[in-house]
Amino acid sequence: METITTKEQLGWREDNLSEEQIERILSEGLSREQIEYIRNMMIEVKVNIGKHLCPTIADLEDVRLFYLGRNGGKITSQLRELGKLPPEKRSEAGKTINIIKEFLIALFLDEHNKRASNEQKERLLHEKIDVTMPGFIPIVGKKHPITHVLGQIVNIFMSLGFEVEEGPEVEYSHYNFDALNIPHDHPARDMHDTFYISDAIVLRTHTSPVQIRVMREKKPPLRIIAPGRVYRRDADVSHSPMFHQVEGLLVDEKTTFGELKAVLEAFLVAMFGKDTPVRFRPSFFPFTEPSCEVDIGCVICNRKGCGVCKQTGWLEVLGAGMVDPEVFKWVGYDPEKYIGFAFGLGVERLTMLKYGIDNIRLFFENDLRFLRQF
Ligand code: FA5
Repeated sequence: METITTKEQLGWREDNLSEEQIERILSEGLSREQIEYIRNMMIEVKVNIGKHLCPTIADLEDVRLFYLGRNGGKITSQLRELGKLPPEKRSEAGKTINIIKEFLIALFLDEHNKRASNEQKERLLHEKIDVTMPGFIPIVGKKHPITHVLGQIVNIFMSLGFEVEEGPEVEYSHYNFDALNIPHDHPARDMHDTFYISDAIVLRTHTSPVQIRVMREKKPPLRIIAPGRVYRRDADVSHSPMFHQVEGLLVDEKTTFGELKAVLEAFLVAMFGKDTPVRFRPSFFPFTEPSCEVDIGCVICNRKGCGVCKQTGWLEVLGAGMVDPEVFKWVGYDPEKYIGFAFGLGVERLTMLKYGIDNIRLFFENDLRFLRQF
């Protein structure tokens, strides 16, 4: 059998095998038949992994397993079968199969790397970020302006030593009116146009019934605030059928109207700053004596007069006074021993003044264009 060891002996120009591969084959001194077998096998495999047949790494792997798979791969099986050949053929066939295996391992590695870099390029192309595109603005939730101001009010009074109490929104008319010295035939009952649930039960028209509930439960000294929702048949630019109040109550053996004024002034300065015009006006509430109301200079019209302040230049934000001894009698406090003051703030009114809002309804329409401004 003729062994081929030089290119001249080989006699063909080879396009499918590289120079190095031809050198490698010639170094083994194989027969022409075996060299042809190697060459044909390489052509077969290259055709099978041609780009259109194996575009992806996964396709390539299928072909690799077909030839080199441990179980049943074509070349792997041929290596296993070597033992069955007659001894004189075994060595040459062994060399041939091993060369093919060696070439295929290199070929598959090379093809794998090509596809890996192509796939990476494609992926990067897809993941490319256009930094000039307008971004998405995340929608961040915010507190409603009333909740925000309510929190500020509570914090200011807590810093003055007041504790927070709560009471029900559906209230006994007895607590809402009678215990606050507003009997059935009292004209002050007309002041509150009330939502009645039944004769004896109402939607509370103010937070003052919380005073009664707290005083029935606790002994003086007391220093509480009671924030919450209240309801009245009222509706215009500065009146809403549902709104928020913060009640305040201080009861001790000694206190004065001067102290009430000082507490309210300290609150208003903390809330609006010291330059905001504030005025105390005498008023009437059946459950306080003497009583007053506090107005703040209207920020909507700069005190010139507008629809919100009803052309007065002032907006009423709270009612207050010294607790009437009649109320102490209702809750079993000795009016000779105890004295107290109380106040009730309108939270929507304070918020309108703080932010220059000219219509109370804006708080309850849930228009995001309005709410996003806070
Ligand atoms: C009262 O409700 C008394 N309970 C306040 C009080 C408490 C006086 C303790 C004395 C001692 P008045 O009805 O004035 O008072 O309401 C208090 C505040 O609630 C007003 O100053 C105003 O700021 C606000 N207010 C009243 N009605 C409305 C309404 N319909 N919409 C929005 N705010 C209102």
